[in-house]
Amino acid sequence: MPTPAVASQLKVLFTREQIANRVTAMADEISRDFAGESILFVGVLKGASIFLGDLARQVSVDATFDFISVASYGNRTSSSGEVRMNKDVDSSLAGRNVIIVEDILDTGLTMGFLRKLFLAHSPRVLKIAALLDKACRRIEPVKADYVGFVIPDEFVVGYGMDYGERYRNLPDICVLPPELQ
Ligand code: IMP
Repeated sequence: MPTPAVASQLKVLFTREQIANRVTAMADEISRDFAGESILFVGVLKGASIFLGDLARQVSVDATFDFISVASYGNRTSSSGEVRMNKDVDSSLAGRNVIIVEDILDTGLTMGFLRKLFLAHSPRVLKIAALLDKACRRIEPVKADYVGFVIPDEFVVGYGMDYGERYRNLPDICVLPPELQ
């Protein structure tokens, strides 16, 4: 947990209750879309791990999950678009209903890379679930099929999202002010 001095500078954007309600609504939508079928959730490490855990427990359809780890070159403001794979999925995607689960869609470069890569493995259906969407920052025209919240261009932490690996365990989603970045 952040020190009290840091915590006092974090502005809560979405409370844990708001997140839980939205995740439940997303899970209901997914359950309706895939009624009677099976889903493979693929979480993008590490940021999506908490979201995936909550989402997967709310769906009423048969679901399995897997994880992928990628690193993008460049920094937040100038992403190069080059993505390196650190950990691939363990499962076969061929013929499956695959939902990529991402914490936040920013420039879209990471998801653009993943979408092409996954489509090459011939899933039956490929969908994208993103908890947050910074639509105003998009470079690659990627659209998520399931979106939690559209947010402005602010750096957020908590509920799995980090700054330098910290703050992932905050239960609320908070804006990290520039002076703490
Ligand atoms: P994109 O390739 O620019 O869309 O990058 C997406 C990734 O950047 C996300 O999965 C996050 O890991 C990271 N990211 C982008 N914005 C934020 C933020 O506000 N807080 C934490 N991580 C972020």
